Amino acid sequence: MQTQSLNNGSQQDSDVIVTENLGKSVTTSDGLLHILSSIDLIIKSGESVAIVGASGSGKSTLISLLAGLDMPTSGTISLNGKLLTAMDEDGRAAMRNELIGFVFQSFQLLQGLTALENVMLPLELSGDRNAKALAAALLGRVGLSHRLSHTPQKLSGGEQQRVALARAFVTKPAILFADEPTGNLDSKTGAHIIDLLFELNQENHTTLILVTHDQALAARCQRIIKLDSGRIFI
Ligand SMILES: Nc1ncnc2c1ncn2[C@@H]1O[C@H](COP(=O)(O)OP(=O)(O)OP(=O)(O)O)[C@@H](O)[C@H]1O
Ligand SMILES: [Mg+2]
Repeated sequence: MQTQSLNNGSQQDSDVIVTENLGKSVTTSDGLLHILSSIDLIIKSGESVAIVGASGSGKSTLISLLAGLDMPTSGTISLNGKLLTAMDEDGRAAMRNELIGFVFQSFQLLQGLTALENVMLPLELSGDRNAKALAAALLGRVGLSHRLSHTPQKLSGGEQQRVALARAFVTKPAILFADEPTGNLDSKTGAHIIDLLFELNQENHTTLILVTHDQALAARCQRIIKLDSGRIFI
């Protein structure tokens, strides 16, 4: 695919994620398994994109690649015009810290830390002296001011997901990936989490990439990308 200009002068319209011929294959006992093939994508700054497709179609693998958590076996990924696939692990980690927030289906909060400490962590890693105040403010934003000192096992599923959301947003990432962010929540709590996600997305002009099985959620995104057996289905 022909990529568009990486710098057209407008942050609003700039390409934040560009992939070319992206592929991921693994060797299994049954031979080579092509998990993703020929993925060509251009995602603009501030866009909201749903990634949908059947279980096993490659959705989680794709966002792990785009977030620099996993490496492709073919093709390229550029984030904000920088070639992620040319970087070593340290370079990818720096890109993740600078640009990316990730909300996992299973929350992945650190069990030994309080809600406040979990949200402070990414700020502390980047040396932010204001970590405590910023983290407390964002936990207030997701309705958890009264739960700052609770550890994850003392929080409900919906509360843990809100902590995970606060942690993902606290660094004001340019790109937020969420892998079935409401998969473990009842529909009312899930709807509240999604409202928050879109509110924070609009306030911060964050590019939102959501993996979801929920058609109503997908429909709220500006664009839907459907995967079928590791390929984009048009
Ligand atoms: N490291 C690996 N080794 C072998 N197979 C893998 C590996 N990682 C993923 N797969 C396979 O690749 C396919 C895509 O996996 P992926 O987790 O991306 O699917 P998904 O679309 O997110 O599915 P779900 O909706 O169930 O979460 C699956 O069939 C999975 O079994
Ligand atoms: Mg998945």
